[in-house]
Amino acid sequence: MVDYWVRPMVEGDVAAVEQLTDESYVELDRRTHRTGWPEPAPRTAEQAVGWSARVSHLVGTDPRGAWVAEDRSGLLGVVLSTRRDLTWTLAAYAVRPADQGRGVGRQLLDAASGYGSGCLRAMLIASEDPLALRRYRLAGFTLHPMMLLWGPVPRSALPVVDRVREGSAGDTDLMDSVDRQVRDAAHGRDHEVLARRYRLVVADRSTGSGYAYASPSGQPYLLAATNRRTATDLLWECLAGSDPIRPVAVANVSAANDWAIDVGMACRMELWTRNYLALRGMKPPVPYLPSGMFV
Ligand SMILES: CC(C)(COP(=O)(O)OP(=O)(O)OC[C@H]1O[C@@H](n2cnc3c(N)ncnc32)[C@H](O)[C@@H]1OP(=O)(O)O)[C@@H](O)C(=O)NCCC(=O)NCCS
Repeated sequence: MVDYWVRPMVEGDVAAVEQLTDESYVELDRRTHRTGWPEPAPRTAEQAVGWSARVSHLVGTDPRGAWVAEDRSGLLGVVLSTRRDLTWTLAAYAVRPADQGRGVGRQLLDAASGYGSGCLRAMLIASEDPLALRRYRLAGFTLHPMMLLWGPVPRSALPVVDRVREGSAGDTDLMDSVDRQVRDAAHGRDHEVLARRYRLVVADRSTGSGYAYASPSGQPYLLAATNRRTATDLLWECLAGSDPIRPVAVANVSAANDWAIDVGMACRMELWTRNYLALRGMKPPVPYLPSGMFV
């Protein structure tokens, strides 16, 4: 018996989707929590506002990639996906904890995959949820385990970084060009929403170019460059904005991006395995640190 249905997500669903994903991701964090890591916690009010703004943006740019499942009690699940150039990405995917494992997620992923038909490549950051990993593998993705660096960045470790500057909207063409070279697809309009929350740093040199978004606490959120040297400089510039005694995370480091591990080692950061890069029709981008939502 069908007791729920799947329909396109609309702007009016954003608040309920924010709550649902928060509940689902916190429960997942509890299941995959490791000793020594920060305790799983719901988004702060400020984080919830930022998260909702990014989701509203994606519902606006990719309405045919956004779907929800609901029953008479409310929303059960959500999927958000995008198409940029000929690459399909998954931005968010969650089912309410009480309803997981009964096929809701499969229906949602099928709906979002339809939006990606015709794309040559697909890319997503997979959690460590065995249910999610089963879905992605059955959808034809290759799963590449990733790493996470964790720890404070001592001032004494910071090198002098030349010719990296603050970026602006005028750098969008440069960033799209770097992205097309590194990951075959530009972020395009996503830069509008990324620049609202994150600090943008740019390198534009004859020897290489690239860009990075960093959170206010100095954590890199998304980084792309045309060579490892430039990527390394951009990562240092992000980390230079951190508090010297507060730990920061450098997340989503695939094995191909060991230049980032070298930066973490220079800071004496801890190295852990965390998440998977799931790819179809492409190899792990290098040098590149993907973000969870904009991949
Ligand atoms: C990932 C998620 C969205 C999938 O939705 P769902 O409704 O639970 O998924 P489904 O029920 O369609 O599929 C789960 C599959 O895992 C299987 N499964 C159930 N328990 C399992 C376990 N312990 N280990 C491995 N597989 C398991 C199910 O049988 C099903 O496979 P099948 O359809 O071949 O029988 C949902 O589980 C979730 O919200 N997880 C937490 C958040 C998360 O990790 N999101 C993904 C971010 S990348």
